[in-house]
Amino acid sequence: MEVIFTLDEIGEAAKKMLAITEGHKVLAIHGEMGAGKTTFIQALCEAMGVQDHVSSPTFSIINQYINMEGEIIYHMDLYRIKDEAEATGSGVEDCLFSGNSCLVEWPEKALGIFPDETMHINIAAINANTRKLSFQHSTKISSKLINN
Ligand SMILES: Nc1ncnc2c1ncn2[C@@H]1O[C@H](COP(=O)(O)OP(=O)(O)OP(=O)(O)O)[C@@H](O)[C@H]1O
Ligand SMILES: [Mg+2]
Repeated sequence: MEVIFTLDEIGEAAKKMLAITEGHKVLAIHGEMGAGKTTFIQALCEAMGVQDHVSSPTFSIINQYINMEGEIIYHMDLYRIKDEAEATGSGVEDCLFSGNSCLVEWPEKALGIFPDETMHINIAAINANTRKLSFQHSTKISSKLINN
């Protein structure tokens, strides 16, 4: 299953992705540097009702937002994390298992600490303005969608 979108369509793509991933609290967003992970997470946060400023947590590792319903959303960027031990020591694992929504960039830095129910999504640049979202691993829900 793939979703292809330009910046103009990113809000719609985010809504679609939220509908597809409903029930999954942890979204692991894979993709190369500059692929559009942070930009897409900004759109996801807007679609989730976050009014706070959403910016890359590259230095802070973990950003916390609260949406209009008072729900907590964690935005994490593991780019600067060396390994799973460092991720756990930085509080990443606590967030992943907190039951709150988590949107994670560079999940491959600490794949072993992610919950089994994690939805893995890949974002790739097709050209300067177009990006493709695809499901990297077949979780129960995505394989069901792919097969139907
Ligand atoms: N359809 C699109 N979706 C997302 N970003 C797009 C799109 N078209 C163009 N862009 C641009 O691509 C860039 C993506 O940068 P962004 O910081 O989101 O990437 P990233 O994957 O988070 O990078 P990093 O690995 O450094 O964290 C932005 O400048 C954004 O405006
Ligand atoms: Mg980023």
